[in-house]
Order: sequence, then C-alpha cells, then structure tokens
Amino acid sequence: MGFLATLTLLLPVLQVYRGVGADVNSKLQVNPLVVEEQLLWVSQGAAAVNTFRIPLLTFTPQGSLLAFCEARKFSSSDMAAKFFAVRRSVDKGSTWSPMSFILDDGSLVDGLNLGVVVVDELAKSVILVYTWCFHQYHCSPSSVMMVESTDDGLSWSRPRNLSEQLGVKSFAPGPGLGIQKRHAPHRGRLVVCGHGTLAGDGVFCILSDDHGKTWVNGAALKSIPYNQPKQPLDFNPDECQPVELSDGSIMVNVRNQNNYHCQCRMVVRSLDGGKTLPVEELFFDHALIDPTVAAGMLEKEGMLYFTNPASTQQRVNLTLRWSLTNGKSWEKAPLQLWPGPSGYSCMTSLNSSMAEDRKFIFVLYERGHRDSVETVAFAKIHLYGGL
Ligand SMILES: *[C@@H]1O[C@H](CO)[C@@H](O)[C@H](O)[C@H]1NC(C)=O
Ligand SMILES: *[C@@H]1O[C@H](CO)[C@@H](O)[C@H](O)[C@H]1NC(C)=O
Ligand SMILES: *[C@@H]1O[C@H](CO)[C@@H](O)[C@H](O)[C@H]1NC(C)=O
Repeated sequence: MGFLATLTLLLPVLQVYRGVGADVNSKLQVNPLVVEEQLLWVSQGAAAVNTFRIPLLTFTPQGSLLAFCEARKFSSSDMAAKFFAVRRSVDKGSTWSPMSFILDDGSLVDGLNLGVVVVDELAKSVILVYTWCFHQYHCSPSSVMMVESTDDGLSWSRPRNLSEQLGVKSFAPGPGLGIQKRHAPHRGRLVVCGHGTLAGDGVFCILSDDHGKTWVNGAALKSIPYNQPKQPLDFNPDECQPVELSDGSIMVNVRNQNNYHCQCRMVVRSLDGGKTLPVEELFFDHALIDPTVAAGMLEKEGMLYFTNPASTQQRVNLTLRWSLTNGKSWEKAPLQLWPGPSGYSCMTSLNSSMAEDRKFIFVLYERGHRDSVETVAFAKIHLYGGL
C-alpha cells in the first residue's frame, strides 16, 4: 500500500479516536491517584519562619498556579507576627518560584490574618481578602482588607480597607477560595464567605458586583446565642468554603465549631447569590466527620470534591472524597492523602476546554509527622487513576 493510501485510511480512524477520547473522559469513573507531591513550605526550615499555616491554592485566569500561606515568623500562634507568603507555578505545579511575600506586619501579634483568594475571570484579576487585627488583641478596630493582582500574581496592589464600605466588624474570610458566580442569579458576582469572632461567630458573606471595586454585606448565618460566650454543643458555624452548583445556588461547607448535632460538617445553601443563607437550606452531613477544622471543597464539572482530616477527634488522616449527587451522598472508597497529622486544606482546578486539564485537581494542605503544622504540602491528583 502506498503512503497516500495509508494516510487516507488513517485519517478517519484518527478522527473517530479523537471523538471517542473526549467522550470516554467524561464517562470515566473517578478513581483519583496522587501523581505529584511537593512540600512548598517547611516550618522552622531554611526560611527561618517558625510556622507556615493556612494554605490557599488557586489557578489564575492565565492558568498559573498560586499558593499562599501565613508565615508566622516567631511563634505558631494564630496571634503571631506574620507575612503572607506566595509561590507561583507556570507549569501546573511541577516547578515553583522561590517564596516571595505580599504583606508583612512587622512585629504586631494581631496584624495579618488569611484569608480568601478569589479569581475574577472576567476582569482577569486575583484578589486576596484578609483581616487586619481580627482578634482585637492590643489593636482596634478589626478591618477587612484586600490586595489585587492584575499581572498573573507577579505584583500586588496597595491594601484597600473594605471596612470603609462594609462597616467595622470582626470578619475572617475563609480560609479558602471565594467564588465568581458563573450561573444566574447574579452571574459575575464575587462572593467571599467567612466567619466572625468567637462570641459573634457565624458564617457571613460579602459580595461585589463590580469586580471588587465596591462590596456589600450579604448572607449571615449567626451562631446561637449570638454575641455571647458559647458552650459545648452550641450552634456555632465557623470557617467555611463556598462552591457554586450548576443550578446557580451556592453551597457552603462549614466548620461546626461546637459540634452542634454531630461531630461532622454543616452544609447550607444560598439560593439568591449569597444574599441569604436560610435555615431551611441547612443540614448536617454525617458522612463528613470532622475534628473542627477548615476543609476544602471544589465543584468541577458536576462533581463535588471534599478534603479534611477524616476523624472526629484529631487532625489526622487527610482524605479526599467525591460526590456525584451534589453532596447528598459520597462515593464509598475515599482516597487517603496522608494518614498522619494533617489540618487545613484547599483545592483548585483549571477550568479549561483542554481534555488534559480536565483530568486534574490540586490540593494544598497542612501535614506533618508529629504535628500537622510542620509543612504545607502540594498534591497533584489525576482523577482517572492515571488514564
Ligand atoms: C478601616 O476603615 C475603618 C472604617 O473607616 C477604620 O475604622 C479602620 O481604622 C481602618 N483600618 C485600617 C487598618 O486602616
Ligand atoms: C482514615 O480515613 C479513611 C478514609 O480515607 C478511613 O477509611 C479510615 O477509617 C480512617 N482512619 C482512621 C484511623 O480514622
Ligand atoms: C468554565 O468552563 C466552562 C466550559 O468550558 C465555561 O462554560 C465557563 O464559562 C468557564 N467558566 C469560567 C469562569 O471561565
């Protein structure tokens, strides 16, 4: 057979194969496999920082990966002088820039507090929302602040004080990701959710309909008794991670601080773009046992992914679960990412039409051998068992 004949025979075959390939991808069973792991930060390591904590991970609109955390310079405490550390990868997590810093609070013990990263795909910007003086420990008042990058995470704007628009109130975003609404209602809206101080705790969301220029207060799911000291088993919604479902509702997965009703996650939905979180939409997900911690949640192509230390007692056993039913049920064989001490986690993926990009999700989490805050670890996860 001549060369030309071979070619004409091959061409239709190739086209058919391509078609099937795309289709197979969406029908493949999720069977996640860690294909790459790296420690992005090591506490008390070469950087001479006491503790790195509170991992945030996102893709930029240009497809770079940005990893952030708090660098607690002299002590591991929440109230400790910090800088915000960032590392950047332009090859989807294989190699990373050296650490650089975005903001530094000097020697103040209640200065910077992370925080939420929210990507505006329409304005092509990355916004970091954080708190200044969250605990009001030898400082006042507590302020919600933001910085923005419009050059793919290479440089950051000067801080802006959002409390000038929102009013002064202790609000700690996340920690985790904010969302930009992709579906009605309120397509394009930025939604950032977080929690209040311990007495005035609860889940609160702030909203922006103009790419972060102006912000308003949205939903509030307040703790009970509100603004009063809590007891064990009180209703005390705390750190949270929102995702948008394909019907345009926002599902918020919440740390159940005082173990109200269960040692498991609270879940609540907003049907109006983050303006309200009605109690009718609140439930307790008994499958998602939790030692009271910040967890990761991601929606990707109709699937929900969830990461936390899967234990009712201790921050150990970092586990990835997935759901085909918007969190009504979780698949039976979760993937253990780390058996030992592990804590906060954050997940991202690239929203892309490329078949290759659709196969991966990425997790950044606190992990260690004796203590969960020894390192901040990155994992690249192939969703289809490496196929
Ligand atoms: C932020 O603005 C509020 C309200 O105007 C003000 O009380 C607070 O001191 C400001 N915070 C900072 C860090 O500038
Ligand atoms: C750890 O989590 C896995 C799921 O990842 C679960 O099957 C196992 O029982 C857990 N182990 C402990 C010690 O909690
Ligand atoms: C994500 O990808 C889907 C499908 O390619 C597209 O319809 C949607 O607009 C994308 N969303 C964003 C925020 O880029």
